[in-house]
Amino acid sequence: MRIVVFFSGTGTNLESIIHNQKKYGYEVCACFTNNPQAGGIHICEDHGLECKVIDNNHFTDRVEYDKEIDLYLNSIEPDFIILAGYMRIFSSCLVDNWEGQIVNIHPSLLPKYPGLNTHQRALDAGDKYHGTTIHFVTSELDDGPIIRQESFEIEPSDDPNSLMDKIKEIEHRIYPETISFLNK
Ligand code: GRF
Repeated sequence: MRIVVFFSGTGTNLESIIHNQKKYGYEVCACFTNNPQAGGIHICEDHGLECKVIDNNHFTDRVEYDKEIDLYLNSIEPDFIILAGYMRIFSSCLVDNWEGQIVNIHPSLLPKYPGLNTHQRALDAGDKYHGTTIHFVTSELDDGPIIRQESFEIEPSDDPNSLMDKIKEIEHRIYPETISFLNK
């Protein structure tokens, strides 16, 4: 199974996905970012992987930008498109063309807290539990059928940073394993 990993930032999930390729029997055939400054680009270089960069700031129209992504995806023909901290919403034409093949990980127990600042929002709400969700992507933000969730109990000493660390530790473990269960 060939996957392409999309990211926008530091890329710690990207790294764990690359690192676990052999263990779980999938192949990262390419990586993609919208952000020329993304730290994850160095992770790709360190692993000898091609990273395609298309800067979204060079486009005024989201659909035009996504058409470029579609061309790129057609050139590599991945089985799955794995979003790992990719901070843009796909337009419906792109989602329709790759229906059932786009997977995202979101740091909350969806349907709670789509969007940003999920850790602070869980604390503000006084939630007992927090966690992460792996789901198929639709053109709605952080929506789509849930594939897997994992939760943990919030402790009184937790703050947004400690919650982020705990979530990433879980994500680095469950995202590669869940990718290996996907079937084309
Ligand atoms: C992860 O927590 C993921 O759930 C969210 O963005 C974060 C990406 O972190 N979508 P990293 O770039 O993989 O470190």
